[in-house]
Amino acid sequence: MRPSVTHAPRRRLGSVQLAACAAWTLSGNDIGTMITAAPRLYPHMWSWDTAFISIGLAHLNVDRAVQELETLLAAQWRNGMLPHIVFSEGGGYFPGPQRWGAAELNADAPDAPRTSGICQPPVHAIALRRIVDTGRLGSQSDVDAVERLLREGWPRLYHWHEWLVRHRDPHATGLLAIVHGWESGMDNSPRWDVPYSAVVPGPDLPPYVRLDRGLVSHADAERPSDREYDRYLWLIEEMRKVRYDADQVVRTSSFLVGDVFVTALFALASEVLATLGEESGQPAWQIKQLRGWARRSRAAVAAAYDPVSGLARDRDLRTDEWLSTRTIAGFAPLLCGGLPEADEQRLLETICGPDWAGHPDLFAAIPPSVSPNDPGFRPREYWRGPVWPVIAWLFGWAFEHRGWPKHAAQLRTECLRLVEDGSFAEYYNPMTGEPLGSKQQSWTATVVLDWLHTA
Ligand code: SER
Repeated sequence: MRPSVTHAPRRRLGSVQLAACAAWTLSGNDIGTMITAAPRLYPHMWSWDTAFISIGLAHLNVDRAVQELETLLAAQWRNGMLPHIVFSEGGGYFPGPQRWGAAELNADAPDAPRTSGICQPPVHAIALRRIVDTGRLGSQSDVDAVERLLREGWPRLYHWHEWLVRHRDPHATGLLAIVHGWESGMDNSPRWDVPYSAVVPGPDLPPYVRLDRGLVSHADAERPSDREYDRYLWLIEEMRKVRYDADQVVRTSSFLVGDVFVTALFALASEVLATLGEESGQPAWQIKQLRGWARRSRAAVAAAYDPVSGLARDRDLRTDEWLSTRTIAGFAPLLCGGLPEADEQRLLETICGPDWAGHPDLFAAIPPSVSPNDPGFRPREYWRGPVWPVIAWLFGWAFEHRGWPKHAAQLRTECLRLVEDGSFAEYYNPMTGEPLGSKQQSWTATVVLDWLHTA
């Protein structure tokens, strides 16, 4: 028997108070032109954060939800890429627009607002679906706002998906590649340890000062290390050298990994976008193309499944080797489907079982970023163990839509238990429920609003 873990008492807000705190958090992060990802650590707009932010915001103010997604889409590069950061006028974040130099180096990048030069997971069509559904239940002006967003946002999202197929599927297999760990959204996940070991910062890496370390109370335990940051910054230097030319970046970056989780999200989002296209009379050939991309990426996710470990794997495209780590990304096939039924059932049992959400020492039954039974599990260290509410939201949404409503409901109940302290942390210690990283993180507040709305 394992020793039972004792938990310090923590604040427990009722649902009305929790919703009010979430709304208050969002208004605190609202700088007028955008809702920033978090008040101090992330004072700008992050691509996938904004998708999640708009989902929850739609329950409070449909117009503002529409506006957030429009602000992100307005920063789309001319070639179709949705940049991972849209910078506000304020500073306070490193690497900022000068370090990226995207607009100076690449004519496809907008001059204003300034943006970074890489992308993030394509969850935006899922957000559009959720906002449209929420708005359609509201007043006539809500309906008008979401129909306009659908009409005007759809072609932009189609262009974004097309860019991903053209520039992030180097072997035309459907497995989408990333050129930086930041593109996965799971910055320092153990998934990237092997490919990052081949990223060797050159002597010409310009000096820099990290700002994140001063903004998180226990940066050593909760943020990526300096060694990891050197590699993150070096990859930016490599991209600057080829002026962010998408094809050259894929050819020259010392980090090129087929990301199974991004690929599953792309497959799912492409199906969702195709359906939204049918509802809004978009060109039939584009809808057909989206379904084709979804099919191919679903097959790539299924091909990444390893029957021995029972999890899906990433693939290092520089060495042509599978990367077998026991992280939450291994459950990617549950998001998009495509596995034979027996394998899928096994995966569903695993995510609920004792290595994951069913681990007896967890504070709440939610799958953490790394299995607590893995020797590399670090319960407080960013993507090396903590539990991330947004990732749980994605699995819950997929469970609901893939025909497992009981699993979805249970996950929602457990997530609400985790976040009922009202801190809306970026991530939590899965064993104790301690809030970690940034507090008042917008996307945590908004997924809570969405859970409360559907509870
Ligand atoms: N997540 C990164 C950070 O921590 C940026 O994308 O700053």
